Amino acid sequence: MATFNLFNTLKNDLEIDTGERTVSVIPQLSPKNYAQVKSILNRLGGDWVTQKQHFQFSKCPQALIQRVLSVGSRHLNSFHFYPTPEVIFNYITQFTPLSFFGASEKQVRVLEPSAGEGSLIRQLEAFGKMEGRDFVTDGFDIDPLNVIFCQEAGLNVQQADFLNVEPVENYDLVLMNPPFNGDEFIKHIQHAQKFLKPTGLLISIVPTQWIKTFDGKANRMWLLEQAQIDSTTDLDENNFFEPGTFKGVSIPTTVICLRSCQSAEQVLNSKQYRESSIKAFGFYIDNHGKSWDKLHRIKMDVEGADKTVEAVQMLTASILRDMTADTTHLVRRYEENYVVSLVDQWFPKYAYKLQKAPPEPQQLNLGLFLDELQVA
Ligand SMILES: C[S@@+](CC[C@H](N)C(=O)[O-])C[C@H]1O[C@@H](n2cnc3c(N)ncnc32)[C@H](O)[C@@H]1O
Repeated sequence: MATFNLFNTLKNDLEIDTGERTVSVIPQLSPKNYAQVKSILNRLGGDWVTQKQHFQFSKCPQALIQRVLSVGSRHLNSFHFYPTPEVIFNYITQFTPLSFFGASEKQVRVLEPSAGEGSLIRQLEAFGKMEGRDFVTDGFDIDPLNVIFCQEAGLNVQQADFLNVEPVENYDLVLMNPPFNGDEFIKHIQHAQKFLKPTGLLISIVPTQWIKTFDGKANRMWLLEQAQIDSTTDLDENNFFEPGTFKGVSIPTTVICLRSCQSAEQVLNSKQYRESSIKAFGFYIDNHGKSWDKLHRIKMDVEGADKTVEAVQMLTASILRDMTADTTHLVRRYEENYVVSLVDQWFPKYAYKLQKAPPEPQQLNLGLFLDELQVA
């Protein structure tokens, strides 16, 4: 009797009915070998129908099996394909500016940079139809099979490694659920932001562990600052989607919103944003017993301007390193300003040590962005 080989069985011993989208296993296999074939067919989306003794697929089984034969079953999900479930899309429609985006009669140009099988695009189109809004979406995906499925469904999705697509500032909205592996999703978000018109908005589903363990990494710090402008509550762990919200994903996730690079820098460098961040830092100290006590101790114990300023700098740095629910919202780029404000308030006689003031930020009308979004 020939020895069992999974690859050969998938290649030669399956009966595929492309019209009905069914697959039957031809040879009699031992229970152990059959279990291997069944496991692959189940992972590809095939459901066993006992009455008919075959696996029923909703997508073309031939293309799916061809994918296993070309990439190998272990690399089946090498592009980290996890379609966005309805519960997350519904959250986006209720709790992000998508709730009003495109509500005027203007067409909204949308980019989906890693479209998968088009889950987000389809849900957006259905939402647009229901709400009478005109979303026109362009998409990319690196996996040719996903692209085939999208194109079969009439979606405008091209095959490409999105990170190599030349940016054009053409889009009012980027809606994305990028591959999460490592910090890869940050690269995708950074690149996607370059496709926004100056008044555009990017909405992305993201994992959450980078928020708590950013370890001073510049890319995580960048994302946190960008997301803090418009999505503070989504960075709060009480609002995370539980593990398992995505089928097969065992980590929590959340949704963040970013502006165009130009608009974000304008806010981050504005006087109002800086002043409200300094206030929030002061509020944190006043309400956080441990930090308040430490400041008191500095006042009692430390002698001399140099040592005092150094102690305040160390305290500020340790607060900003600590990523708890209470400190996530503190904007890290203002660290120097936080030190200045603490020394000013608590140790005015040493304030001269910090007289090298940071550059004066520009004035900004913070209401402008929302006004622009509402007419979009
Ligand atoms: C988490 S899935 C999300 C799919 C889809 N956005 C959705 O929400 O249903 C990530 C998708 O990114 C695609 N992908 C991975 N790397 C990519 C790249 N460099 N360029 C474009 N697409 C990529 C994968 O093929 C996969 O379909």
